[in-house]
Amino acid sequence: MTTTASVELTLRDISAGAAAGSSCSTRLLDAPWDVDREDPGYGPGASMADAIPAVAPRQGEIPAEYREASAEELDRRIRAAKAELGDRVVVLGHFYQRDEVVQYADYVGDSFQLATAAKARTEAEAIIFCGVHFMAETADLLSTPEQAVILPNLAAGCSMADMADIDQVEECWEQLMEVLEDEGADGDALAPVIPVTYMNSSAAIKGFVGRHGGIVCTSSNASTVLAWAFERGRRVLFLPDQHLGRNTAKAMGIGLDEMAMWNPRRPLGGNDEQTVRDARVLLWHGFCSVHKRFTVAQIDKARAEHPDVRVIVHPECPMEVVDAADEAGSTDVIRRAIEGATEPTTFAIGTEINLVQRLAAQHPQHEIFCLDPVVCPCSTMYRIHPGYLAWTLEALLRGEVVNQVSVSPDVAEPARVALERMLAAKPAPLAGSAR
Ligand code: 13P
Ligand code: SF4
Repeated sequence: MTTTASVELTLRDISAGAAAGSSCSTRLLDAPWDVDREDPGYGPGASMADAIPAVAPRQGEIPAEYREASAEELDRRIRAAKAELGDRVVVLGHFYQRDEVVQYADYVGDSFQLATAAKARTEAEAIIFCGVHFMAETADLLSTPEQAVILPNLAAGCSMADMADIDQVEECWEQLMEVLEDEGADGDALAPVIPVTYMNSSAAIKGFVGRHGGIVCTSSNASTVLAWAFERGRRVLFLPDQHLGRNTAKAMGIGLDEMAMWNPRRPLGGNDEQTVRDARVLLWHGFCSVHKRFTVAQIDKARAEHPDVRVIVHPECPMEVVDAADEAGSTDVIRRAIEGATEPTTFAIGTEINLVQRLAAQHPQHEIFCLDPVVCPCSTMYRIHPGYLAWTLEALLRGEVVNQVSVSPDVAEPARVALERMLAAKPAPLAGSAR
């Protein structure tokens, strides 16, 4: 398959027979507003089969002028609106965002870098977050009260974040406290459980964690955060990504027999009381459908075809895949590993295809390919399209804020506490290092 930075162009080539390869859905080339209009769901792409919660935000129809405009017209209008708005607006693009949108971003980065970039641009009245819902919420938590955070398509959620519903988590907590009520008594300094949530979770979950002595983590600081949690508690409830939780705990030397899965649809998460008591890590039954697609067989094939290949995967991949890879790291770790390679190298990457194709286009001295041969983007990130960006920008020109994402103060306050704990958590000094 020819590698262009644009997944959309790759899909067009595949569909026209101009390129070999296949995609996971023939509907990926449909306009997102056509998808939004139909049955609510995550749309075509890797998470399309995931169950969308009834409360997930829906996107109303945008005006016909944006649906019908050509790519050239949208380009002209977006550039003109951005120029007129100047510093009043900042556009953020996540690494997984399609190229047709990323080209307009003032900053491109991982979810946390973007949220902090938003914080640094206090002069901007509006932050347009071309990412997914939990990222926009985090930007709202970290920006000033005067700034409006906008998600161009409200249907751009994250199916993994949606797998931890606040009512289910409250229910889980109640059950845990019942089983573990005899712990933490007699002045025991350690709490029975510390809740830890991955950044990929709703503000409500971050708020829950903040209220219960817990903390947020990202894929780059998960081990520092788990160490922080074990200084304060006997166990960790890790939300919502079982894979990041398992991979991180395993790398810290916690045995698989000390981890238990919590399935929110079953009493006690599907465990007996003794299993809960014995667990050091309780893994919420969530996963990312994009990263679940990566397999050990794909890695074996890459190694057979490219004996010197360097395999780097995201820690949202299943444990067997992380174990079979050469390295595992966040989107930014992957990007920096490629940027730091001084000799031409073959990289096989296990993360979302938009980032992999962009890295391949930016580094022609290396051979860079996605481990998954099927083109299957994050379906929620893919819901953002230049038409929505033009709509939100031109609304700002008229003094209107559309698609604002704002976290209510009762949730925001404890959610910020959980984020601040993360920012203050320091990696443990290396054993034997000088003091
Ligand atoms: P980052 O936190 O690295 O931006 O990743 C977000 C994400 O959604 C990974 O699937
Ligand atoms: Fe969520 Fe997975 Fe998409 Fe990341 S790649 S935003 S975890 S669905």
